[in-house]
Amino acid sequence: MLKKQTKLLPASEEAVKEAAELLRNGGLVAFPTETVYGLGANALDAQAVQGIFLAKGRPANNPLIVHVPDADAAKDLVMKWPPQAQQLVDAFWPGPLTLVLPRNERIPDAVTGGGATVGIRMPAHPVALALLRAVRLPIAAPSANRSNHVSPTSAAHVWDDLAGRIDLILDGGATPGGIESTVLSLAEDPPRLLRPGLLSPEAIQAVIGPIQISELHHSSANDALPSPGMLPRHYAPTVPLELSENAADRVYALAAAGERVGWLRLGDALPLPKELQAHVTLVPMPANAADYARQLYAALRLLEASGVTRIVVDKPPSGAEWLAIQDRLRRAAT
Ligand code: TXA
Ligand code: MG
Repeated sequence: MLKKQTKLLPASEEAVKEAAELLRNGGLVAFPTETVYGLGANALDAQAVQGIFLAKGRPANNPLIVHVPDADAAKDLVMKWPPQAQQLVDAFWPGPLTLVLPRNERIPDAVTGGGATVGIRMPAHPVALALLRAVRLPIAAPSANRSNHVSPTSAAHVWDDLAGRIDLILDGGATPGGIESTVLSLAEDPPRLLRPGLLSPEAIQAVIGPIQISELHHSSANDALPSPGMLPRHYAPTVPLELSENAADRVYALAAAGERVGWLRLGDALPLPKELQAHVTLVPMPANAADYARQLYAALRLLEASGVTRIVVDKPPSGAEWLAIQDRLRRAAT
């Protein structure tokens, strides 16, 4: 692909204007949302959307989420707007909930991988909203990482993955949520959770009643995937990662075998014994699920960059608020 000059700008009013102009002209712009950074292109321009797949190295059958500035803009893109969509939007937009609905003819095939539905969300981050309002177009935006890498939660993460491949990165600081939106299909009855995320299934069920939560398994890699975020291995650091119920023993054993080990340790950070300090990089993680989510991807990227050869992660608790974290860690594990 053609090498691009990637600009990195603080997300000032001026920079947002420049970003909107780039998007209108078919460019690729990374921007912060309340979950993770997204890599945006004009969702109505098939060629611009192809550019996202090229820049990320993303398989063409993995559909993109379309970002909109309000619910009316979402209604413009779908065949029908069921009462459940309105109830959920009233309760949770702007916010980390992506609704999958039957798409209409305005959405090009490139966005959906040829599938008959489209995922749409209205993000809550002020920079994302300012950009959507300035550009006045629906913006297709997957997470702004190279395909299969962990999602970026800072502009520096985006730079590390995509510099030279996109036009502009709007730096709005660290993203407050840290993991991706919840993806819910309203194209099925009852609605189905396609990807756990920042918004809990309990919160959704409190508004629209029971939803299907069982895992999906796609049939063939060539079909438009029901939700490729549900592929077993999707959110992957470049270093082998394992979850452990007994992480301390595992870390000691690996270090004794000559590995350089990164350890995501849950809860209080006791100091490492002296003999391990040269072999182990300890990253203390919060015992609270929301704080853990906010820090998880940055911690994984930090360990990758530190040159460790193995990552060991304390198995997270089993409570409902840990669902999305368990999901991401399971997919990151080898
Ligand atoms: O929080 C987020 O959702 C971030 C920010 C940037 O909005 N975006 C994000 O996009 O995580 P991405 O492309 O990395 O993940 C989107 C997930 C994928 O698992 C994709 O397969 C699924 O949503 N998805 C998108 N459209 C879909 C559709 N029409 N049907 C089923 N799954 C869909
Ligand atoms: Mg992604």
